[in-house]
Amino acid sequence: MGYKVVVAGATGNVGREMLNILAERQFPVDEIAALASRRSLGTECSFGDKTLTTQDLDTFDFTGWDIALFAIGSEATEKYAPKAAKAGCVVIDNSSLYRYDPDVPLVVPEVNPEAVDGYAKKNIIANPNCSTAQMVVALKPLHDRARIKRVVVSTYQSVSGSGKDAMDELWDQTKGMYVPGQEKEPNVYPKQIAFNVIPHIDKFMEDGSTKEEWKMVAETKKIVDPKIKVTATCVRVPVFVGHSEAINIEFEDFLDEDEARDILREAPGILVVDKREDGGYVTPVECVGDYATFISRIRQDSTIENGINLWCVSDNLRKGAALNAVQIAETLGNRVLKKA
Ligand SMILES: NC(=O)c1ccc[n+]([C@@H]2O[C@H](COP(=O)([O-])OP(=O)(O)OC[C@H]3O[C@@H](n4cnc5c(N)ncnc54)[C@H](OP(=O)(O)O)[C@@H]3O)[C@@H](O)[C@H]2O)c1
Repeated sequence: MGYKVVVAGATGNVGREMLNILAERQFPVDEIAALASRRSLGTECSFGDKTLTTQDLDTFDFTGWDIALFAIGSEATEKYAPKAAKAGCVVIDNSSLYRYDPDVPLVVPEVNPEAVDGYAKKNIIANPNCSTAQMVVALKPLHDRARIKRVVVSTYQSVSGSGKDAMDELWDQTKGMYVPGQEKEPNVYPKQIAFNVIPHIDKFMEDGSTKEEWKMVAETKKIVDPKIKVTATCVRVPVFVGHSEAINIEFEDFLDEDEARDILREAPGILVVDKREDGGYVTPVECVGDYATFISRIRQDSTIENGINLWCVSDNLRKGAALNAVQIAETLGNRVLKKA
């Protein structure tokens, strides 16, 4: 006997990947429902070799469904997640709405799978922000060995992290540069994204940082260790899919770069590609469609006592969202629900 699974936001970037990944990983599905807004009623979505017809989330009855993967943004989540949870369906949510709620576990299965057990307080489990998910996969095995004191991270985040309209904006603006009359003004982003970079993701906070930067700080503390200090600069770049991060890590104990490389090679969810030659590292276009978090450019930071620098790349729609959510569902199934 398998699970009755709902994907809410099935017409979006993350929802589509959720359906792909559930099929690819042969998640034990007995029945599946693809939901979106009324606008998309009847839209067809692929699930393996099957075609699903999208239903309206607003009128859907969650009674009798086991797991709902949500990828619909915070506003709609606030309306529909409590409804699903109350009907006995466990919600695995991709929005930021519940991530900082002490009664909701925030889970990256390679890092804190045991946190899933706390799902029952609200029947909700939160999925972290895309840039946090890939970073903590890299930090955790190094932290276990040498205790991380402080992390300085700069991100290079793709436009798919802001949804399908943002991908269209990059495409249309790029085309508009070459086709007279088809120029496209910024709409999703505050400035031109084609052939540009924007040091601003999510809203500004009082201290001058952005909410995206704050999320990386707060989520790393909740998932890995509250003692780790993080400072982040998050930047949007004209890449369709794949987030990159330059990470500087300061440890309590000395960690040699070769040992760091060996630890990362053995760590779950990580693929090390690190040759000190032309092309001996991973870039975002190579990570698309993959499950792994890729680590390259591992090297000692000789300007501090115990420091390592590295480059971290992952498919933000997969490890940053849909894959992580499906891994949470797998963990919940194995540890708690034990149906299949
Ligand atoms: N993209 C990433 O890398 C990433 C990473 C981590 C977390 N997330 C989070 O995942 C969520 C979805 O992101 P996305 O990139 O997939 O966005 P997207 O491509 O814009 O898709 C949004 C989806 O939500 C549905 N939706 C929106 N409002 C709805 C409503 N009121 N009722 C029912 N369905 C509604 C849309 O349905 P219609 O097609 O009918 O409008 C669509 O299926 C967001 O919370 C985002 O923050 C994204």
